[in-house]
Amino acid sequence: MNITAKKILVTCALPYANGAIHLGHMLEHIQADIWVRYQRMRGKQVFFICADDAHGTPIMLKANQLGINPEKLISKINKEHQKDLAEFSISYDNYYSTHSIENQMLSEQIYLILKKNGFIKSKTILQFYDPQKMMFLPDRFVIGICRKCKASNQYGDHCEICGATYNPMELVNPRSVISGATPEMRETKHFFFDLPVFYNMLKKWTLSGILQLPVVNKLQEWFKTGLKQWDITRDAPYFGFEIPNEPKKYFYVWLDAPIGYIGTFKNLCKKKPNIDFDSYWNKNSTVALYHFIGKDITYFHILFWPAILEGIGYRKPTNIFVHGYITINGMKMSKSKGTFITARDYLDHLDSDCLRYYYATKLSSSIDDIDLNLKDFVQKVNSDIVNKIVNLAARNAGFINKQFNNKLSSNIAEPELYQKFITASKKIGQLFCNREYNKATNKIILLANIANHYIDDKKPWIIAKQTGCENILHNVCSMGINLFRIIMTYLKPILPGLIDKTEMFLNISLEWDDIKKPLLNHEITPFKTLFKRIDINKISFMLEKSNKNITADKNN
Ligand code: MSP
Ligand code: ZN
Repeated sequence: MNITAKKILVTCALPYANGAIHLGHMLEHIQADIWVRYQRMRGKQVFFICADDAHGTPIMLKANQLGINPEKLISKINKEHQKDLAEFSISYDNYYSTHSIENQMLSEQIYLILKKNGFIKSKTILQFYDPQKMMFLPDRFVIGICRKCKASNQYGDHCEICGATYNPMELVNPRSVISGATPEMRETKHFFFDLPVFYNMLKKWTLSGILQLPVVNKLQEWFKTGLKQWDITRDAPYFGFEIPNEPKKYFYVWLDAPIGYIGTFKNLCKKKPNIDFDSYWNKNSTVALYHFIGKDITYFHILFWPAILEGIGYRKPTNIFVHGYITINGMKMSKSKGTFITARDYLDHLDSDCLRYYYATKLSSSIDDIDLNLKDFVQKVNSDIVNKIVNLAARNAGFINKQFNNKLSSNIAEPELYQKFITASKKIGQLFCNREYNKATNKIILLANIANHYIDDKKPWIIAKQTGCENILHNVCSMGINLFRIIMTYLKPILPGLIDKTEMFLNISLEWDDIKKPLLNHEITPFKTLFKRIDINKISFMLEKSNKNITADKNN
């Protein structure tokens, strides 16, 4: 992939504001953050934004349960989300909320333009209504017996036992999940977005060769089944934005959620008045726009969202990067099964760089699921970061600090070896850009192996004992530190915490374009421990403390 644009806008999917950030979310934020940090290192101007997705029935009900208003709930959760993401060093320029004045104005405007352009249809539909709670029930708030296999307690529109999909009205003995009452069928007027009108445009856009292959295959299926008009209405009571001139009708959360990308950007423009909002969103924008998302929300991002943007005359995304799901020790994350680890559970016990590194070693441009195997996690981090990378600095720094007054030698002992490390930058850069972080980390670790072999071979600890060999010792250790510096520069997008310490130790800022010039006669600072190995007991402790049904040493 070659990015010609100088300016880039990047988003992650907006996490729902009814629960904690968990290690599944973190896969996406870490994937995007590594990409953003890489692009920034290569001189791109990147704005990286996200927000909480604050609307919808589950959030409304959760606030009801807690006896607080939804505004209070989402503001508390927003603070927690921001804290978690910051502690994982996710470098957002703005983290906002869809429940904002900017988003409300944009959602209303966008709806009115779509309506004026003839893309909004109204229809009267039949829906379940909870007479006790006095509210219309979203599909997944109706439970009943599957018509086909007779399994009880099946939610909404599909049966988890036999896999049948159906209209919620077809459930036998339907009940409201909220009150247990038998729902009534009621008529209600809803507004629909006319997605089928955009069929040709979407086909052309999505098949233009930019998307990942499995995503294209999924799309082909959807195109074959045909596109349907999309219901963008929810009846009161609902926590969301009221539709202009339609009292008691609200925008469905999935309408205002992606508009939240624009709303969050608009809010950023208020904070940084020199950003030109229009140049990012107008039809001929030269800014690149990338959305990072999980595979479960592909339909919304690859069909609805570009169609809405087209319908209002805005630019479309440059690309949408889809990733798979995280499993932990091979299990799906599930609260009820005790296999759900929140960002906070993790941060209370472990260093965020470790997870960033482990995810990087697993991430690629594929949409396959990724397993966080906790035993492998500990082994990988300790073996790569501690034994191979940080150790390279440790084995050389002492001599430079003590015998050479912190100063590196004035020449490069092995110019060819140095050149080999520099030559790798092109390939490693491409791998970062293409989101092939697993391959990038592999290459970097190969370099670390080569550097360690060089030191093993030269044995500075033996040279140090020989009289008259100070020069050789100085050159060998300086070579080791110079190779370490290149390796750390390549790792900069992945390990912000370790990089801060390394930059202090090396007494420079690590920049991609600077590595061509070796550090000669350069003064470093006294070496201090840069990274602590993970103690597997810490993982057990984290799992015990948060009552998980997972063990640290499970080997699967
Ligand atoms: N609110 C919507 C997104 C709106 S975007 C305009 C939503 N929220 S979510 O909290 O359920 O998910 C946010 C992101 O996290 C999604 O991209 C989703 O795919 C991702 N993940 C949620 N659980 C995940 C895993 N277990 N593993 C990897 N990613 C996961 O969807
Ligand atoms: Zn069934």
